[in-house]
Amino acid sequence: MNHKKFMQIALQLAQSGKGLTFPNPSVGAVLVRVHCHDTHIIASARTANAGRPHAETLCLQKTDNIDALCVLYVTLEPCAHQGETPPCVDAIIASHIKHVVIGVEDGDEKTRGKGAEALKKAGITVEYENLDGAINEFYKGYLRQRAGEKPFVAVKIAASLDGKIALHNGNSKWITGKLAREYGHLLRAHADCVLTGAGTILADNPRLNIRLNGFKTYQTMRVILTGARVLPDDANIFNADDGDVMIVADKNSVHFANYQRIANNAPQKMMVQEVGAQNEKINLPLLLQKLGQFGIADILLEAGSKLMTEFLTQNLVDRIYYFQNQQFLGADSQNAIGVLGLDKLSDAPQFHLHAEKQFLRDDDMVDKLLILDRVS
Ligand SMILES: NC(=O)c1ccc[n+]([C@@H]2O[C@H](COP(=O)([O-])OP(=O)(O)OC[C@H]3O[C@@H](n4cnc5c(N)ncnc54)[C@H](OP(=O)(O)O)[C@@H]3O)[C@@H](O)[C@H]2O)c1
Repeated sequence: MNHKKFMQIALQLAQSGKGLTFPNPSVGAVLVRVHCHDTHIIASARTANAGRPHAETLCLQKTDNIDALCVLYVTLEPCAHQGETPPCVDAIIASHIKHVVIGVEDGDEKTRGKGAEALKKAGITVEYENLDGAINEFYKGYLRQRAGEKPFVAVKIAASLDGKIALHNGNSKWITGKLAREYGHLLRAHADCVLTGAGTILADNPRLNIRLNGFKTYQTMRVILTGARVLPDDANIFNADDGDVMIVADKNSVHFANYQRIANNAPQKMMVQEVGAQNEKINLPLLLQKLGQFGIADILLEAGSKLMTEFLTQNLVDRIYYFQNQQFLGADSQNAIGVLGLDKLSDAPQFHLHAEKQFLRDDDMVDKLLILDRVS
């Protein structure tokens, strides 16, 4: 029985829902019937948008044709607790399936090990297939967040050949071409929130929403770190059609009450989150801890050099999506990364190449994307 083949399909289903199923992880489920040498898929599903129903339930609902010859492949251990929906293990046991292959044990203590145990107790054979670590990699942020560790922080940088992210006058539209920017929108969709700083809001007035076909009804929450300068009421980021916003501010900030007024009057879900600050800089480890408590597992940081530099120097960056165009912008332009104050090369934050992509532009230039992971 080729477990890898069917788990790979389940993983692809899970990948198609990444970010869209928040606050639940995206899970893929594939139901296969094995009869002599005839093995075929009879149903498949992923977790529904917004997290419910779960993939296993949806998959089992798709067919009446379930018997002891069926094998269920599921990327994450089925849940064993009563939440807003009944436990998935109950539905699996009731379906008469006798064999379940799980990608990875759930990180949530309500289910960790308990889902598999309940299945085994019911006489179901349980096996694991993690695709040589690919499933753990997919759930990296989720597993960490559920273990109470900091969420996974990915950084998106669009820069020139000489590492500049904007001209001296702030002009940065557009450093990369259309296809690279669309990929950037996909990264927003895959994240649980997009994090930015007041500097980017004031300089670019961005929406930081997802402008891709098929994403009209789904938007990722935007989180803005504020400091000494005030954000205007009519900033594009507050546009009601673009989804939820979290304004992060220090309670002692003179602007705190103003942000609360903006949030209270907003037609969409908007909140002001108080996180302590020093010298008008938000405490980043505390911020990540609070975001984790909100269920946020995967963060995409899209900010200017001030925040990038802070995240880097505090060793909070797990992955970098480095888009590079084919231009030089010169020393009078803005650096992607600010002063790190290094005396030794060996002290420099170091990342290794995870993957590489290229995007052809309308002007026949090519934007390169380096996906880099922190060397731990
Ligand atoms: N090409 C790209 O990939 C890209 C992406 C985004 C932005 N940009 C460019 O970046 C420029 C803006 O850069 P920026 O460095 O000024 O803005 P930023 O990094 O987006 O925001 C920095 C601001 O956030 C506030 N803040 C709160 N807590 C902080 C903390 N712990 N550490 C650092 N900042 C904190 C401060 O606001 P106060 O100053 O009010 O105290 C700070 O000035 C724009 O020109 C924009 O075009 C380029």
